[in-house]
Amino acid sequence: MALWGGRFEDSVSELTQEFGASLPVDRHLYRQDIAGSKAHAAMLAAQGIISDEDAQAIRAGLDGIEADIEAGAFTFDINDEDIHMAIEGELTRRIGAAGGRLHTGRSRNDQVATDTRLAAKALARGLMEQNLALRHALVDAAKAAGTTILPGMTHLQHAQPVLFAHQLLAYAWMLARDYTRLHAAFDAADASPLGAAALAGTTYPLDRQMTAYTLGFSRVIENSLDAVSDRDFLLDLEYACSVMAVHLSRLSEEIVLWSSQEFGFITLSDAFSTGSSIMPQKKNPDFAELIRGKCGRVVGDLVQLLVTVKGLPLAYNKDLQEDKESALDAAHTLEQCLSVMRGMVSTWTVNADRMRAVMHRGHLAATDVADYLAKRGMPFREAHAVVGHLVLEAEKTGCDISELPLETFHEASDLFGDDVVGAFDLDAIVAARTTQGGTAPVAVEAQMAKVEAGIAADEATLDALSPVVKMGTATRSVL
Ligand code: ARG
Repeated sequence: MALWGGRFEDSVSELTQEFGASLPVDRHLYRQDIAGSKAHAAMLAAQGIISDEDAQAIRAGLDGIEADIEAGAFTFDINDEDIHMAIEGELTRRIGAAGGRLHTGRSRNDQVATDTRLAAKALARGLMEQNLALRHALVDAAKAAGTTILPGMTHLQHAQPVLFAHQLLAYAWMLARDYTRLHAAFDAADASPLGAAALAGTTYPLDRQMTAYTLGFSRVIENSLDAVSDRDFLLDLEYACSVMAVHLSRLSEEIVLWSSQEFGFITLSDAFSTGSSIMPQKKNPDFAELIRGKCGRVVGDLVQLLVTVKGLPLAYNKDLQEDKESALDAAHTLEQCLSVMRGMVSTWTVNADRMRAVMHRGHLAATDVADYLAKRGMPFREAHAVVGHLVLEAEKTGCDISELPLETFHEASDLFGDDVVGAFDLDAIVAARTTQGGTAPVAVEAQMAKVEAGIAADEATLDALSPVVKMGTATRSVL
């Protein structure tokens, strides 16, 4: 008979027992559940609701169960329905009546919300650390790239030359915004629902501040109905994961392109590529593709939870049991993606010569040639048209605008002097874009300082985060 079996005459069927169980998922929250129960028991004793001896027995019993789970010596039984019943049931088997007093003034509804919030905080913090590590790797790669230039693109067409470092730092900025979203998700989870009981609060004189403090929560949730039914903090976490996964998919796509024969801009290390079982020559960017692919999974996780909570009346509904699998999946998937991406970025070889070799294609200097005319008095629109015609001529002869004879320029406009060749100099083109946020080496250096200051500032926020109950690893591999 289940722990709630008193008002029932029959047991649930095997089918519904398995269908209704969340144990395969929420057993990954065993540490959070045990921490929550220990905090609750200590508070019950402090408030004189249970005896100190009972609280001590509960604490010791829970410690023993946790040690057994960590050691792989705890057998989970699907008939326990969820992690809360599994642990409470085992506790009572071990310590007797005291175990039966643990659930005083508590419901699984506030219990599961507590466990899930503790888990969300741990997951968000882990992702924040990984996010910082990848940003460091991008900065290192940008520094290593020095003044290497490549064709900057729009519409995947050669547009204007840019520093490779500039391109890499663009991803560091995306990840900086992702960090802000993760931090917000952490804050959203950082409130204690414990003490809300089933939905309405309880008649026992609980000290909600005490349990919140013991568990590392910064505050208490003020409405008991909201406390047991709010899953916004998971939506926030999964949204943060989704946007970050989208960013990683974009970088992955660049890596797939850059490592292709057509581009050849980078060579992935052997540790981060795979071969083919039939084509001996192949070296595939599998892991970049896989990160790109996993983005769909993470976004799917977010959509699943959004649809699950849509239209739910207050307060707890069993639908909410479907909240944890997607959140754990999104966070774990992204954790892996972040470390694999970091490995790829830190071990690739940059083929600067190859980047330069393709720069004579696509008329990368065209804007600067038009600027040359505009700076000599021609309205920019007119200059644009003149250079457009020069590009057309170059296309017809199959050369780059920079390879046209000087006479062609002189014929096109009196304003062209022989010094127009200066406008073809790709390094000078890059160096001239000194506007704030531009691609000139001096501007990129200034930008790099800001990226690094942002990383340092975010690192400092890690120290200021409220304490977390780390995810247990004992049951992780089976997820
Ligand atoms: N296994 C449940 C969940 O994950 C715990 C809460 C169940 N509460 C209830 N009244 N059925 O949501």
